[in-house]
Amino acid sequence: MIQFPENFLWGAAASAPQTEGHSLSNGKSPSTWDQWFSMCPEKFNQGQGPETTSNVYEMYRQDIERMATLGLNSYRTSIAWTRLLPDGQTINQEAVSFYRDYFQTLKRYGIEPIINLFHFDMPWWLMKKGGWETRISVDAFSTYAATAFQLFGDLVTKWTTFNEPIVHIESGYLQGYHFPAIVDMQKAVQVGYHTLIAHFRAVEKFRAAGINGEIGIILNISPAYARSKSPSDLEAKKLADLISSKSFLDPCVLGEIPQELKEYLNRAGLSPVTQKGDQKLIRENPVDFLGINYYQPMRVKSPECPNFPPTTLSDIFESYDWPERRVNPYRGWEIYPAGIYDVAKMIKEDYRNIPWYIAENGMGVADEERFADEAGVIQDDYRIDFMREHLLQLHKGISEGSNCFGYHTWTFVDCWSWLNGYRNRYGFYKVDLMRDYQRTIKKSGLWFKDMIRNRGF
Ligand code: BG6
Repeated sequence: MIQFPENFLWGAAASAPQTEGHSLSNGKSPSTWDQWFSMCPEKFNQGQGPETTSNVYEMYRQDIERMATLGLNSYRTSIAWTRLLPDGQTINQEAVSFYRDYFQTLKRYGIEPIINLFHFDMPWWLMKKGGWETRISVDAFSTYAATAFQLFGDLVTKWTTFNEPIVHIESGYLQGYHFPAIVDMQKAVQVGYHTLIAHFRAVEKFRAAGINGEIGIILNISPAYARSKSPSDLEAKKLADLISSKSFLDPCVLGEIPQELKEYLNRAGLSPVTQKGDQKLIRENPVDFLGINYYQPMRVKSPECPNFPPTTLSDIFESYDWPERRVNPYRGWEIYPAGIYDVAKMIKEDYRNIPWYIAENGMGVADEERFADEAGVIQDDYRIDFMREHLLQLHKGISEGSNCFGYHTWTFVDCWSWLNGYRNRYGFYKVDLMRDYQRTIKKSGLWFKDMIRNRGF
C-alpha cells in the first residue's frame, strides 16, 4: 500500500472553453476558437466546435455534487476572458454572477477552486490587433487579471496565470494546431516573450492587490531524453529542454530567462523586442507554486538536416521513436510514468524545491462505449492502470523529498479537445452528446473515489 500525505489535494482539471459551452451567448464575445470554427469547421473532428462543449455553464452545480461524491477536495478550471470582459474593458455582470456562484458552490462542498486565467482562449477582438504578437496584449491581460482578482479574490486563494503557455506559442506559430496556424520562428519568439511578460505583470498586479492567497503558473513539462550520448544528440536534448521547459520554468521560479537561451536566440538573430524594466519585473515576481502537466516525455535526436538560423523546431531537434516505448494509440503519446519521478526530482534539485502539484495527468481514449458493461459503465481499466503507475512514481518522488502537494487528473467530465473535438475522452464521467450531455460514471471514477478515501492504494 502506498499512502500520500494528509491534506494532499486530490482533484481534476478543466478549462472554460473546453467545458462551459454557451460560447457565443450570455454576453460572451468570440475567442479565436469560436472564430476559427466559424471560418473553418472542417478542421475540427466531425465538425465539433466550441459552442456547446459539455454545457457546464448550465450543469456546474450537479457536476460539483458529483465531485463531492467522489471526494475531490480541489478542482481547477479557468475563467473565459471573453466572458468576463467581452470587449476587454466592460464587465459582463452575468459572467460575474456565474463565476461567483460556481466558485462559491465549489467551496460550499469543501472543494478548493484553483482558478486559471488563460487556457489558449485569446479574445478575437485582441487577435485582430495581433494577439500576443503585440505588446498591447500585455496591458490587456493585466487589466483582465486585475479585474478577476478584484471580483473573485474573496473566493479564490489559489490562482494561476497561464495553462501551458508554450502550447499556444508552438501550436499557433510553429505547428499549425492553433490559430493563426502559421510557421514563423521570429513571431513565435515574440509571442512567447509577451506571454511571459503578461504572466509577470499579472503576478505584480496580484501582489499589489494584496489578495489573500497564492499565485502560480501551469506548465506542461515533458522532460527530454536524448537518443544517444553523442554530442549532437545531447545538444538537441539541451535545446529541447531550454525551449520547451526552461524558457518558462527558469524565469517564473528563479527570476531569470536562461542565459543559454538568450545567447542562442541572439546568435540566430531571433531575440525578441523587449522594454526597459522587463528584467526587473521578471526578477522581482517569482511564483508561489507551480502546476505541472505531465503526459509524456520528449524523445529527441539531433536533426537530420540541421539548419541555422532555424525556421522550424525540427531544425533544432527532432523526435525519434524510443524502441522500448509504450504508446497510447488514440493520442499517439508515449506512456512513460518514470517521467513524473524525473520531474519531481528536477523541481526539488533545480527549482529550489518550490511547492508544486500535478495539475494534469490523464489518458485520452476514443470510442470508449466499446468498453461499457451491461449497466453502461465504461470499464476503463487502462485509465486506472495509467493513474496507478503515475501515482507510484509520484509517490517515490515525494518520499525522496519533492514538495508536491496534489494530483489532478485531466479531466472530471469528458470535455472538448480543440481540433480533436470529442474524439478522445479523458473524464471520470462519460458525457453523452446525444442525450443532453448526460453524465455517467466510469470505473476509473469509482477507483479514484476509493483511492482518495484511502489516500493511496
Ligand atoms: C493539455 C491541455 O495539454 O492536455 C488541455 O491543457 C488538453 O487543454 C489536454 O485538452 C489533453 O490534450 P488533448 O489535445 O488530447 O485535448
